[in-house]
Amino acid sequence: METSTLINAFNNAGQGHVFAFFNELDGEAKRRLLEQAAEVDLEEIARLNATLLGGGAGAREDLFSGLAPAPYEKLPENGGDLAAWRAAKAAGEAALRAGQVAAFTVAGGQGTRLGFDGPKGTFPVTPVRKATLFQVFAEKILAAGRRYGRPLHWFIMTSHANHAATEAFFRGNGFFGLAESHVHLFRQGRMPAVGFDGKILLETKGSIAMSPDGHGGSLRALERSGSLDLMEREGVRALSYFQVDNPLVRAIDPAFIGWHFTRGSELSSKLLPKAYPGEKVGHFCVKDGRNVVVEYSDLPEALQQERDAAGGLRFNGGSIAIHVFDREFIRRLAGGAASLPFHRADKKIPCVDAGGGLSKPSKPNGVKFELFVFDALPFAKNPVIIETRREDDFSPVKNAEGVDSPASCRRDLLRQYGRWLAANGANVPLGADGTPAVEFEVSPLFGYDEDSFAESWDKLPQKPIVRNGLCL
Ligand code: UD1
Repeated sequence: METSTLINAFNNAGQGHVFAFFNELDGEAKRRLLEQAAEVDLEEIARLNATLLGGGAGAREDLFSGLAPAPYEKLPENGGDLAAWRAAKAAGEAALRAGQVAAFTVAGGQGTRLGFDGPKGTFPVTPVRKATLFQVFAEKILAAGRRYGRPLHWFIMTSHANHAATEAFFRGNGFFGLAESHVHLFRQGRMPAVGFDGKILLETKGSIAMSPDGHGGSLRALERSGSLDLMEREGVRALSYFQVDNPLVRAIDPAFIGWHFTRGSELSSKLLPKAYPGEKVGHFCVKDGRNVVVEYSDLPEALQQERDAAGGLRFNGGSIAIHVFDREFIRRLAGGAASLPFHRADKKIPCVDAGGGLSKPSKPNGVKFELFVFDALPFAKNPVIIETRREDDFSPVKNAEGVDSPASCRRDLLRQYGRWLAANGANVPLGADGTPAVEFEVSPLFGYDEDSFAESWDKLPQKPIVRNGLCL
């Protein structure tokens, strides 16, 4: 687009201040600002300003009227249908042997809460090897590919801020044994931040304050990056989706994949009963006959605390951000068949003021717009939600300390290794709360779930003693 056309468009949209310092910039800086400006969808910003900044609180009550907990497939031990679970697992294994599944990690977040400088996936998590989040996932995916005789493709969504560092990390580590041709990194989209008056904020005189468009941006980024076409060429029908912060995840779970395929589901999800009423997870609900996830920050306190007839929490179904997506469903949504709603997050956003000075706000001064991937749920045909066990699937690293921290995650990894070993007859010294009293580790290459662990363990001619520093 012509420079003047672009600048005019910003003027006409009431966003002309973006170019207030344009004449002070050198040629290269001018080019960069124009490039950023061309990324901005001014109509979208105007729409968001009208809908998300313009009050809208009145509609809130209606959002929750008639909201009910979503139905789900219970685990056999909780009354679920054992035969159906077995059939699902067999179907999932068949799909994996046929190469119909790929892994997908969203890793574009800023990881602010953890306070770690660098892409979150490069954070070391395991007790002995100090393997990073990326290494744990890579080894699970590598091992599953070997087990089913079909190497898996792995798609990883990065952000503009962490893409280069993520790529360098994978290269520097030889892609952790995966074929480079099977690891696909692509950047997610960005959105400009606006002040409470709807004006786009400048980060510097020559750059717009841009931020990642949320993990919901992954659907359009998968399409834009050519990932969906690649999947189609390779015969991949479904993506096993998980977040970069959760090393316990069964990155490739045959039963889950099988439920997805046997039900003809376009979007499947895992549910975990909440650990306590205020746990910071989304809630699986039904609204107007469609499945939805209501985020922890949105569900009113009264509903979070509400009890059912048996005395349990009524809205107890936690969403742990583990899904299987049908490829063509993503294509349909990314193609505009339905638009996911943007969410507003009020933030402290350093920016340039009208006089050109840099202001570092001490309280929120503006808004970032984000898409959430679970907002795709109401658009999916035949969605399936299955129950999982916390110890098999969920122990994220989100905070520097306390709940969901590196320490709690390391403990849960240890407990998982301990359980697998004990189930196979090893003598594991356990502390009073079930945590092994020694620090050891099981590489996903040895075992990434109960079944694969048992197979490898069986083959060991001599069973090792479980002691500090043991690495299987
Ligand atoms: C998220 C979910 C919550 C779920 C919980 C489980 C949201 C809004 N909420 O909470 O429902 O119960 O995880 O752990 O997501 N990411 C990107 N790009 C972005 C933003 C995030 O790739 O623009 C990725 C992050 O790298 C991370 C994941 O999305 O892998 C989750 O993001 P985060 O903002 O940490 O979500 P939570 O608030 O922890």
